[in-house]
Amino acid sequence: LLAKLQSLEMREWAAVPTVLARPSTGSGRTAAGSEAADSTNEPQPVRAELVEARMVRSPQDGTTVGQALDATPADVDLAFARAVAAQPGWDALGGHARADLLDRAADLFEANTAEFISLCQCEAGKTLLDGVLEVREAVDFLRYYACEARTLFGAPKPLPGPTGEENLLRMHGRGVFATISPWNFPLAIFTGMAGAAIAAGNTVLAKPAEQTPLIAALAVRLCHEAGIPDDVLQLVPGDGKVGALLTSDARLSGVAFTGSTDTAHAINRTLAARSGPIATLIAETGGQNALIVDSSALPEQVTRDVIASAFQSAGQRCSALRVLYLQEDIADPVLEMIRGAFEALVIGDPTRLATDVGPVIDAEAKAGLDQHVAAMQQAGRTVFRRELPGEVQAGSFVAPAIVEIGSIADLAKENFGPVLHVVRWKADNLAGVIEDINATGFGLTLGLHSRIDAVRRFVEARARVGNLYVNRNQIGAVVGSQPFGGEGLSGTGPKAGGPHYLARFAIERVTTVDT
Ligand code: SER
Repeated sequence: LLAKLQSLEMREWAAVPTVLARPSTGSGRTAAGSEAADSTNEPQPVRAELVEARMVRSPQDGTTVGQALDATPADVDLAFARAVAAQPGWDALGGHARADLLDRAADLFEANTAEFISLCQCEAGKTLLDGVLEVREAVDFLRYYACEARTLFGAPKPLPGPTGEENLLRMHGRGVFATISPWNFPLAIFTGMAGAAIAAGNTVLAKPAEQTPLIAALAVRLCHEAGIPDDVLQLVPGDGKVGALLTSDARLSGVAFTGSTDTAHAINRTLAARSGPIATLIAETGGQNALIVDSSALPEQVTRDVIASAFQSAGQRCSALRVLYLQEDIADPVLEMIRGAFEALVIGDPTRLATDVGPVIDAEAKAGLDQHVAAMQQAGRTVFRRELPGEVQAGSFVAPAIVEIGSIADLAKENFGPVLHVVRWKADNLAGVIEDINATGFGLTLGLHSRIDAVRRFVEARARVGNLYVNRNQIGAVVGSQPFGGEGLSGTGPKAGGPHYLARFAIERVTTVDT
């Protein structure tokens, strides 16, 4: 792996061609058996070239990586027409045939690992390690949902009944799904949500985050090369305005969204206000993730896991640690060890193998995080902050920070970047700590470092979180092993990469025959 990473490190950024992400509406393969619109007879959309191109810039230094053409209202309209026409045929293909195509897409993703990693670095500022993990996760999603589709959608399920009666349950796609994905996992989450919807027999209009359309464009191209028809998966680039066009359309049957809690609420309102089918919303949203450390924990392990959980991916994971609760008896020595490791973090060029912390996504994110740390300093909090190395001044880098606060309730919102907050707690107040964490309303990840089984059981019984990690870091959920997703303000469920995910993209039909 090291040799592979070193060879990737040698790749010049310039080796990534300037990419154009554009709406993928256009003629092409159609779903088997569907009566897809013939592009020659269809009214053509106002061509996106008439729309000003969105320049996609590198978070590392602001250089242009490529361009994206936002979908126009006419593009979205045409995309819906094609998706609606293609869906019955795609659904009728069945789980096995759809799964074969997803597996083929996974093969192509693996064959294009280097291109994806380069794009992850250029477009999203990811480190090499994060780029490798990103591609791995996308491939895992495709293969996992392919496997699940064979079981769930492979054959009708016979159900019991009296003699002379046959009952068969069949699962079908709901119709047209919009997937609206974030920039922090521009390949893995984009692919996971679209792949699940496709596996379940839906056609998909996939809107990537406006910051990262290029990786999405490559992913869609490879899916089409794998044989997934153009009308079954269409790229619909753009910002929130395009998202609103998608979610307000009466032809939509469901939305899979990953992003902020506020946007999930807005989508929910839009879906409720329109006519058409009662649409499903699957939302994965924010978190205010804590880690509780008691005096039985191993300090070296705590240090390693805190650093990874708070600062890997520059803290830009939904799962990332935001608030570290240290039992006060051990807080000083443990904090000293954490500070030692914190001082050793290598900040800088994400294309270098040695880099631990790259840039945050853009200038707006940087400004928000810097403002938060400054406000904490002004409020008299103890703040440890790294200096940024001179070489990174052009990009959207944030100097990592550790800030002492009184309670998780002191934080008005999630701070999505390399900022770790620390709270000291008294040994007799574990119940109070969990109450405070639950009271945020978020429920995504929670870490616990303790060697005492009774403490684990106590936390398990009380914490309202989707993913509890004990004596390890709290990031990097593995598809199929750690289904990922939260509750409350953190999302609707079901969990991505878990056994109940595909079913939410589907409807059930039962046929009863009197034999
Ligand atoms: N699924 C990611 C993780 O577990 C977070 O978005 O880190």
